Amino acid sequence: MQDVERNIEFEFVRATENAALNSIHWMGKGDKEAADAAACDAIYGVFDLVDIRGEVVIGEGIKDNAPGIFLGEKLGIGTSDAPRFDIALDPIDGTSNIAKGLPNSISVMAASYLPTEEGHAMVNIPSFYVEKIAYGPQIAYAVRREQVEPIGLDTPVEKILTIVAKILRKRIHDLVVVTLDRPRNQKYVEAVRRLGASLRLISDGDIAAAVAPSLPDSGVDLYIGIGGAPEGILTASALKALDGDILVRMWPRDDAERAQLSAEGNDLQRIYMRDDLVAGGRSLFCATGISDSALLPGVKLLGSTAITHSILMRSRSKTVRYIRAVHNLNQKTIHVRGSDREKPL
Ligand code: FBP
Repeated sequence: MQDVERNIEFEFVRATENAALNSIHWMGKGDKEAADAAACDAIYGVFDLVDIRGEVVIGEGIKDNAPGIFLGEKLGIGTSDAPRFDIALDPIDGTSNIAKGLPNSISVMAASYLPTEEGHAMVNIPSFYVEKIAYGPQIAYAVRREQVEPIGLDTPVEKILTIVAKILRKRIHDLVVVTLDRPRNQKYVEAVRRLGASLRLISDGDIAAAVAPSLPDSGVDLYIGIGGAPEGILTASALKALDGDILVRMWPRDDAERAQLSAEGNDLQRIYMRDDLVAGGRSLFCATGISDSALLPGVKLLGSTAITHSILMRSRSKTVRYIRAVHNLNQKTIHVRGSDREKPL
């Protein structure tokens, strides 16, 4: 079988690296849209030189009319025999964090190779928010083998933490849980605190937070809470390579959204697992840290060099690469869209 993702995967990490480098100077400047625009520009610029037929099936930007790379956009030169990919991306997950100079922002992309001309591998969940639980490979394995009681989105948090502690052979008060700091997540906050586990509340950026429990050294055991729907699909792509799992269910913000989703024929009770969100075994995921997160260190600016940290993984080989790149800022240029000249950083 031709391993198309292997041939192309480093272009994806070049894109998130360039997005991180092009947006880093917006750190703390209070302008999240400028940071996002810079990241998008860099990603477009890379794919303007790469011959794939990519279609953005999970995009961003709709949230607050911010700049973005939107659903349905094509990425890649797109000659007729170029490989076809579903693409999910968030040029910056944690734009508010960049604007405020806070930790927890990454640039992130995922892609699934489509061997035929029909159909898609990634599911675009139409609600704005979803309920999510994400956990690592040890827990996924035990749940799949029915060695423990099932974990569901309606399972009380107390019970989930008991199951997780048992599988990880930890005491409950040694567990570390992450959730987004939002009023809608208060019930999770209260339950975790009641049980005495550690809680990390993050202000933004729940892809890094939800991937973290699947990484051996992240110090995070469980992600739980209500966050953005696209971020759930990007997380699922990473978890395919890491053997972790995620459960997702639409969480309408209000009655109007609930009515609209129902009228469009969506089953609001449906629980999507990792492989429902990203089908097949031909996906890749990459991310570059912009500011420090549980997933990756952020960009370090040291004199005339910038150091980036990225993670790149594929579901077929399950190879996980950590890429530390040293960029010479006196020499380095990046290709941005709409310009035939390279832009210095
Ligand atoms: P963006 O930076 O892409 O806008 O998303 C940040 C984020 O915190 C996501 O990580 C999270 O899933 C979502 O926003 C939560 O949405 P909200 O800020 O509306 O609660």
